[in-house]
Amino acid sequence: MKSSLLEISYLIGSVTFILGLKMMGNPKTARKGNLIAAGGMILAILGTIFLFEKHDHMGVVDTSFVVPGMVYGLIFGAIGLGTVVGWLTAKRVQMTKMPELVSMFNGMGGACAALIGLMEYQHYLGETGALSAIIAGMVIGSVSFSGSVIAYLKLNGTMKKPLRLPQYNILNTVVMISVVAFGAWVVYASPDNMTILYALFFAALIYGILFTIPIGGADMPVVSSLLNSFTGLAAAFGGFLYDNKIMLTGGILVGSAGTLLTLIMCKAMNRPLSNAIFGAFPGGGATAEREIAGNIKDINISDTAVLMNYSKKVVIVPGYGLAVAQAQHVIHELEMILEERGVSVKYAIHPVAGRMPGHMNVLLAESNVSYDKLVEMEDINPEFSSTDVVLVVGANDVVNPAAHNDPASPIYGMPILDVENAAHIIVNKRSMSAGYAGIENELFFNPKTSMLFGDAKDVLAKLVTELKSL
Ligand code: TAP
Repeated sequence: MKSSLLEISYLIGSVTFILGLKMMGNPKTARKGNLIAAGGMILAILGTIFLFEKHDHMGVVDTSFVVPGMVYGLIFGAIGLGTVVGWLTAKRVQMTKMPELVSMFNGMGGACAALIGLMEYQHYLGETGALSAIIAGMVIGSVSFSGSVIAYLKLNGTMKKPLRLPQYNILNTVVMISVVAFGAWVVYASPDNMTILYALFFAALIYGILFTIPIGGADMPVVSSLLNSFTGLAAAFGGFLYDNKIMLTGGILVGSAGTLLTLIMCKAMNRPLSNAIFGAFPGGGATAEREIAGNIKDINISDTAVLMNYSKKVVIVPGYGLAVAQAQHVIHELEMILEERGVSVKYAIHPVAGRMPGHMNVLLAESNVSYDKLVEMEDINPEFSSTDVVLVVGANDVVNPAAHNDPASPIYGMPILDVENAAHIIVNKRSMSAGYAGIENELFFNPKTSMLFGDAKDVLAKLVTELKSL
């Protein structure tokens, strides 16, 4: 009876995961989708704790199996601790630090999968099927854990430069093949020796580090997302091992969603996936820079206000700087004032603007910008030629024409927002400093471009005041 109820709770949980994921595809339903999936997860966790029954080989319930009270204490103690730490961290984290947090949480998932392998190995000695799932989960989970810790250090700026050992591509491939061969041997030989298992665990951790350290900053999100799919895969192996449907469903969903996201980002950043798996990307900013001809032209607040006030169509390009400055509320205010004056205003959303997928959507949703004003790159690009003013706020790489016309540039081939086609381009940033890829931007030297220097929040607040006085 209890087992059937448990299976039902797993089924409900699995359905909530799929439903939640589907709802996350739309900003309007994303929040609810997240809560529904979390509800399903809570149900499955409580079901496992209270409804689990041990069966013998004939499938008969082992009534002598009782979970000691102490174990319940430990489980709820750990859940309580994890909930408080996770809740407080997620509550306090700034939007700009979200990618680091995601990386860290992902690493924790990988560590859990690795720990399952370490704990269960000796219970399944000689069972090739179960051992394959255990070793695969442990190896992939360990790679994901150590790789995510490095990704975290890179994203938060602690590890600034890619670290490339001599012949790192060959070295990484050799280490990867060795770890796989070692794992296969452990499954085949099934040695009753934990030292060997720990050796495999450490070898996988080392591969995770080697895999991540050579990768340049601008390509980090692709790697984070790939590591995310590894964690999903590792969890799915745990699901196989325990014949646990929800772990399997959850793992497969995370694995496939992570893989899809990786592919989408590779396309958006124009980086081949094979480089991510077998070595490193051509690193951001490492190539020789071209001299850019032309002059920089400044514009002041009042001229900007006049230009925008008398436009028919304005497109705002938000970037990472908007998030850093926390200027999402004031940009919404600017949009509303312009709309009141009969100016059509849209936001052009580049798929990798900011520092994580969907960064700009989340940021602007926080200030209640209407979702239909957020237009994706493919849809907004044809509209720039009929746009009077493009206001670029704290964005740089995603509007850099080098992606189109400089084959030596690290971002060459990356699809960008074609803001150059608009009649006037106003770029707000604090200085002439480069963006994430570390390269100059010839857009700033374009005769149609005017630079509006200053912190985004400050500048936009002044612009709003100026517009109100017109
Ligand atoms: P970036 O190219 O990083 O440019 C941001 C610009 O904002 C900088 O040039 C900076 O110039 C300016 N800025 C910083 N603080 C500011 C402030 N307080 N007020 C005004 N401006 C400020 O950003 P982007 O155009 O959004 O491009 C994203 C980049 O990040 C891409 O290279 C992408 O590949 C990479 N990336 C994306 C992701 C994802 S998935 N979204 C994840 C990781 C990395 P100043 O210093 O002169 O102000």
